[in-house]
Amino acid sequence: MFNINHKQELNKRRTFAIISHPDAGKTTITEKMLFFGKAIRSSGTIKGRGSGKYAKSDWMNIEKERGISVTTSVMQFTYKNILINLLDTPGHQDFSEDTYRILTAVDCCIVVIDAAKGVEERTKKLIDVTRIHNTPIITFINKLDRDSREPIEILDEIEKKLELSCIPITWPISCGKNFKGVYHIHDKIIYSYKNRALNKNFFLDFRDVYSSSNKLVKNYLGTDLSRHIHQELELIINIYPEFDNKKFLKGSLTPVFFGSALGNLGIDHLLSGLIRWAPSPLYRRSNKRIVKPEEKKFTGFVFKIQANMDLKHRDRIAFMRIVSGQYTQGMKLRHVRTKKNIIVSDAFSFLAGDRLSIKKSYPGDVIGIHNHGTIKIGDTFTQGEDLKFIGIPSFAPEIFRCIFLSNPLQQKKLIKGLIQLSEEGAVQVFRPITNNKLILGAIGVLQFDVVIARLKIEYSVNAIYKEVNVILARWIASKNDYSIKNFLNKHSAYLGYDSSNSLIYLAPSNANLKIVMEQNPDIFFEKTREQ
Ligand code: G4P
Repeated sequence: MFNINHKQELNKRRTFAIISHPDAGKTTITEKMLFFGKAIRSSGTIKGRGSGKYAKSDWMNIEKERGISVTTSVMQFTYKNILINLLDTPGHQDFSEDTYRILTAVDCCIVVIDAAKGVEERTKKLIDVTRIHNTPIITFINKLDRDSREPIEILDEIEKKLELSCIPITWPISCGKNFKGVYHIHDKIIYSYKNRALNKNFFLDFRDVYSSSNKLVKNYLGTDLSRHIHQELELIINIYPEFDNKKFLKGSLTPVFFGSALGNLGIDHLLSGLIRWAPSPLYRRSNKRIVKPEEKKFTGFVFKIQANMDLKHRDRIAFMRIVSGQYTQGMKLRHVRTKKNIIVSDAFSFLAGDRLSIKKSYPGDVIGIHNHGTIKIGDTFTQGEDLKFIGIPSFAPEIFRCIFLSNPLQQKKLIKGLIQLSEEGAVQVFRPITNNKLILGAIGVLQFDVVIARLKIEYSVNAIYKEVNVILARWIASKNDYSIKNFLNKHSAYLGYDSSNSLIYLAPSNANLKIVMEQNPDIFFEKTREQ
């Protein structure tokens, strides 16, 4: 099925994303990782927060004005001979459906948690999305250089709120002003936190923290802290079982690292954990069969479409995750949905927005190909086989607006623009059954601003938004056609169609949805829908 070279390429790859609630430290960690991977020369290249420097990946004025990164860029770097594909996601709180969808294209996620704040709302939502593929999760608890909550309390919260069993791999030695570093439970080493006052490299090699009589430990930590950490470690080593790789790969158990991204402590432990435990490229399910990365023939799916990456060329790029085989420059691929073959002569890889033409790529890699308006999110490409990858869904929007035209004569252009933008996954468009309004749905508010800007630039349409009385949406399905018909008759005032004519319930309140769900047990109210 495969040759040795192909197997080696698979073994040396890891594809992952970093997720967090805004401000937990995702960007800082990304920077440090790229620095460790020698992909950037200094921190601050990715995002110049408020400093006037912008990310290399920023592409639209909207991003530049606000100093945020709307787009998802893919960064490839090497760490200890492992080739790492880091799929970056918008970090601002106005993030988008892309953030959710990118999680369907990775094999592992790092979740970053602020040690003072614990599990926050966005973290929970993102972890819910990783459950679609039971993606393995590695946890980094950040900002230990500030006053933090008790580590055990944070782990308890992760277990309860995120339903993930925790296995600490490192353990913090105090926090805030007294932060001394972390103890690596597996390696049995204290890694000291270096700041101006303490630069004690010799502790890096120091073993056997349990021996609190040990003079070096005592000198560094002081008698009280060394006794305290000794007792704490004894306790946690008894409470937490051994790391279980099977449970990790099923997404039910997470190894936990502590550190300070800003203080540069713990990122290398995290990277080492990633290359040790994160799986090499995984199989994916299709409508016909499971496709394995070892297979000889190329397959891949599109999880994101990016417009205007290069304003000079006004082009659109489709981001494709390779599932099996290998991409070689100039190869012929079958676009399964349109049943057309294309020759791909100019696929790109990316580093924070810089395009590099590629000659060869393997499973786990993401390649960008030109899209002249024919490629949709969720599309599958193969070397001839008619199969479609599943598990790259649309997500029920979380915010809604009604879109109106300043000039009613532009209606046709508006519809054309909205169809294309919804195919690209920039926004979702719904047509209520009982009126002529157009309701747009998004995951992040910024998606709305991007749509207005793109309608203006690309379609010469001036549109505005008005509030709409919708706060939740659920796709409607049932095993029974009669139930759907009946439901449609009874609730048409709250029903609409999406751009592929699937029925969707547009609820004005949580209470309304709850009641309707209770009254209609034979109807499924779905949060995701396959493309
Ligand atoms: P995000 O991408 O998850 O939104 O977080 P980001 O890395 O942008 O970090 C948010 C803020 O937290 C930044 O401060 C950053 O410097 C700070 N931070 C990140 N990691 C640590 C850490 O380990 N310790 C401490 N003390 N702070 C950390 P900011 O003031 O918003 O930005 P800046 O002016 O420092 O750039």
